Amino acid sequence: MQLHEIARKNQKIWVCDDVMPDFRRNWFDIQRADGSHAWSKKQGGRQAVKKFAVNNRQYVLRHYCRGGVPAHITKDRFIFRGWQATRAYREIKMLLEMSQLGLPVPFPVAARCNAGRITYSADIIMVEIPDSESLAAILTERKLTPEEWHSVGATIRRFHRLGIQHVDLNANNILIGPDGNIHLIDFDRCTRRPYKKSWALAGISRLRRSLKKLKRANDDLFYEPSEFNNLLDGYHE
Ligand SMILES: Nc1ncnc2c1ncn2[C@@H]1O[C@H](COP(=O)(O)OP(=O)(O)O)[C@@H](O)[C@H]1O
Ligand SMILES: [Mg+2]
Repeated sequence: MQLHEIARKNQKIWVCDDVMPDFRRNWFDIQRADGSHAWSKKQGGRQAVKKFAVNNRQYVLRHYCRGGVPAHITKDRFIFRGWQATRAYREIKMLLEMSQLGLPVPFPVAARCNAGRITYSADIIMVEIPDSESLAAILTERKLTPEEWHSVGATIRRFHRLGIQHVDLNANNILIGPDGNIHLIDFDRCTRRPYKKSWALAGISRLRRSLKKLKRANDDLFYEPSEFNNLLDGYHE
């Protein structure tokens, strides 16, 4: 599968070949079409996410936003260093590559960048993982079985073994579907690089910390730190 580029003076859109026949550029403006508060509430993430449907297919539109202090200055603009260096282009390329490797990630649909001379803003559209909930959300309702923890660990390992470093591995970026299928999402700023134990273990530690943090914030969370060992078993098997 290839990316099809639609170029204008200050804008580029990259569309995955297989959705090209259906694709409409106004998909990126869906939030305007149905009201400005259509962006969904942040679910533990930084970015603005909106779900929409076209011809019975469900998509997710995400606007790239900044976290942290600079957000006060500029919420959604980044320094422009060329089209291929934009977050949206890099993420759609990564999603495409991972899909082709058979990894459980959302299928990419399209990415858009609007660039000025110095800064750009960007959005990405991908296919929704149907009926899934984030690991963080599930743990507010129930415990995960040891087998489920196991398969979270095994899934992360598949990515690591193929050199995919998820730089923000946390409980909000792991989606679990009704039949227990696991997907990783949110590959903003992620890279493919030769496997190294150091970055792989740093990712696992980040996930463990994110669970601890959620537990500190919500004592009723259905999670005990010892359960992380089940994940580690799945990871190391
Ligand atoms: N492809 C998808 N399918 C289903 N839900 C998604 C998908 N992408 C994002 N979401 C939902 O939106 C939330 C935020 O998306 P994410 O890509 O993690 O952005 P961020 O964390 O930067 O806000 C996720 O935690 C998840 O609940
Ligand atoms: Mg996220």
